[in-house]
Amino acid sequence: MTWIKVFSPATIGNIGPGFDVLGLAVKHLGDVVEARKIDKPEVVITDIQSPMTLSKNAAENTAGIAAAEVLRILKIKTGVELKIKKGMPSGSGLGSSAASACAAAYATNYVYGNQLSQEELILPATKAEEFVSGDFFADNTAPCILGGATLTRSSLPLDVTKIGSIANLCIVLVTPEIVVLTKEARDILPKQVNMRDFVFNMANSCLITAAFAKNDYSLFARSLNDKIVEPARANLIKGFYEVKQNALLAGADGMTISGSGPTVFAITDQPQKARFIEDAMLRTFQRHDIKAFSLITEVDNEGTRLVEF
Ligand code: HSE
Repeated sequence: MTWIKVFSPATIGNIGPGFDVLGLAVKHLGDVVEARKIDKPEVVITDIQSPMTLSKNAAENTAGIAAAEVLRILKIKTGVELKIKKGMPSGSGLGSSAASACAAAYATNYVYGNQLSQEELILPATKAEEFVSGDFFADNTAPCILGGATLTRSSLPLDVTKIGSIANLCIVLVTPEIVVLTKEARDILPKQVNMRDFVFNMANSCLITAAFAKNDYSLFARSLNDKIVEPARANLIKGFYEVKQNALLAGADGMTISGSGPTVFAITDQPQKARFIEDAMLRTFQRHDIKAFSLITEVDNEGTRLVEF
């Protein structure tokens, strides 16, 4: 049977104050899943290329879980074989598990006749994400499938909207070599929030939505502020406030945590400034004896797609 190949981008989710709601797909990082139909009624993962050890047991891998969920929805009695190539580190706050899930969901749907729409693929991919995070949120899977920035109004039932993009947004991603488990980063969040902080975060989230809808960088730059989740998680990332301060001193218009971390991202609309910002952030992590990987990128407006062999 014919093999197909699918790419899914890395994602930033949450975008600042939009906890579990706002997400964004980014270019130059992502996972590739190859798939073909098989006669056996199962999902088999025959190859994983990844610097980390990941389970080939389809029931324990987000790609396998998402593919099985698509087969179940389509009531298919045969199966699918998958090969996975990881293009980003797991547990980095860049939507690694979502990317594998989205690529596998898309690929399985494609080899069986493309019966589900892109929006309908978000649910099986999000169910797979739930397996690793212990919680149900679509702020990585929605932008990963649809591209650009997305907003999740409700997870159950799933109600997701693609907002748009910001053409001149330059994103400096820095991933320190620190382990932050999504579950742990969720468990430490406050159970109650102060009304003033809630209003502040809501206003900034609404403005970020408007910024991506209007392709308005300066509106986004004014709105990347989070008084609730960032302060709770900052201590999980050694040197966080110093890295932020130095990113801003180097010219960034904002910096916060990508997803549950440890990746942080800074923003500018001036590509020539991005290298200085990146350098300042890397040096600051270095001063804390933390190695870090960095990338200057932009919005991926396409989302999950078929690619050539
Ligand atoms: N919205 C989730 C969180 C994303 O911040 O916990 C996890 O990658």
